[in-house]
Amino acid sequence: AGIETWKDQTWPELKNDLLLRAARGEETPRAPVWVMRQAGRYLPEFQEIRRDHSFFECCQTPSIACALTLQPIDRYPLLDASIIFCDILVVPQALGMEVLMEPTKGPVLPSPLVTPSDIERLRTTVDVQKELGYVFEAITLTRKGLAGRVPLIGFCGAPWTLMAYMCEGGGSRTFEKSKSWLYKYPKESKALLKRIADVCADLLIGEVLAGAQMLQVFDSWAGELTPYQFETFALPALLHVSHKVKSVLAQLGHPTITITLFPKGVHANSSLRLLADPHTTGYDTLGLDWALDPVGVREIVGDKVSLQGNYDPVVLYGGKEGIESEVKRVSERWKEAGGGWIANLGHGITPAVKTEDMGWFLECVHRYSKR
Ligand code: CP3
Repeated sequence: AGIETWKDQTWPELKNDLLLRAARGEETPRAPVWVMRQAGRYLPEFQEIRRDHSFFECCQTPSIACALTLQPIDRYPLLDASIIFCDILVVPQALGMEVLMEPTKGPVLPSPLVTPSDIERLRTTVDVQKELGYVFEAITLTRKGLAGRVPLIGFCGAPWTLMAYMCEGGGSRTFEKSKSWLYKYPKESKALLKRIADVCADLLIGEVLAGAQMLQVFDSWAGELTPYQFETFALPALLHVSHKVKSVLAQLGHPTITITLFPKGVHANSSLRLLADPHTTGYDTLGLDWALDPVGVREIVGDKVSLQGNYDPVVLYGGKEGIESEVKRVSERWKEAGGGWIANLGHGITPAVKTEDMGWFLECVHRYSKR
C-alpha cells in the first residue's frame, strides 16, 4: 500500500466500528475503549520481545512492530481499537536527528537544537517513504493481521511537542530551553514548527494510505505553554498538519478519516476552547487528561467535537473495588456530558500495572459506559 497502490488494496471487513462512529460524533450504545501505550512494558509478552531488541529496532522492524501491536488485541478481546507500535520521535529521526532510548532516562537527543543556526543540520526535504517506510509496512501488515477485529490507529507527535524534544535534548521539568526559543526566536520557532508539521502530515498521509483507519496527534507538552503561546505557535502548526492531511487525502480521492488531538494539560477555558469546531480545526476528537471534567468541557466546547478519555492512569493501581467504583463514577460524568465519547485513560498506562487489573478495567468500562 502507498501513494500509488492504496486503491488496489482490499482489506478484511471491519467487524467493530464503534471507535469510528464515536469519533464522528455518534452516541454509541457503549463507549469504545482503548488505552494509550496499550502495547507496552506492563505486558510480559512485550517484555519478552523487548529483551532481545532495542526500542527503535522494535519500531523499525515491521514484523516486530506488528506483533507488538497485536499483543494487547489478542490478550484483551474487550479492546475496541489498536494503535500501531511506534514512537513520536521517529519524526526528529527522519529530520536527521539522533534519538536514543535510555532505559532509565527515556528519550535522549544527544545533539539538540540550541540556536536557530542548528536548524541547518536538519534535512530540508524529508522523503517519508525512504525514512519512515518501515512505519507504513508495519501498518499494512498489522491491518491484515487484525483481520477486521478492530480499527487500526496511526499517530504522530504534534509539532510543538517534537520541537520541545528537539530543543531540550530529551524530557524536561521546566521546558526552559524549548520555551525560551519561543521568546528569543519567535520567527525561527514558527518556521521550525512548520517544517516539523510538514513531515508529520506526510507521515500521517502515508499511514492512512498504508491502512490506518483513524489518526491521533499527541501534543504531550501542550500544557506547558501559556494560552498565548499555544494559540500563536502550537495551534497554527497543528492546523497545518490536519489541513494538509485532509486536503491531500481528498485530492487522492481517499475517503475522509477522523483525527484525534491529545493536547495534554491544556485548560478548558483557554486553549481547549479554540478546538471546539472540527470543521475549522480538522480535529474530530479531543483527548482529555484526567484533570478535566467531561461535563465542564462539554459546556465549553459544545457538541460538534467528540471527546476521548479520561480515567486517571493511576486508578489501575486502585485494586478491584477501587477500579470499579472510579470507572463507574467517571463514566457517569461522561454519559451526562453527552456526545461522541471514546473511553481511554487520561495518559499512557504505566509499566507496573498488573495484566489482570487492566482486564478488569476494560470489563468495568464495558459495563458502566452503557447508555
Ligand atoms: O500507545 C501505544 O501503545 C503505541 C505506541 C506508543 C509508544 N510511544 C511506545 C513506547 C505511542 C503512541 C507513543 C507515543 C509517545 N512517545 C508519546 C506521546 C504520548 C505520551 O506518553 O505523552 C511520547 C511523549 C513519546 C516519547 C517517549 N517514548 C517517552 C517519553 C518514552 C519513555 C517513557 C517510558 O515509558 O519509558 C518513550 C518510550 C516508549 N514509547 C516505550 C513504549 C512502549 C517504552 C520504552 C521501552 O520499551 O523501553
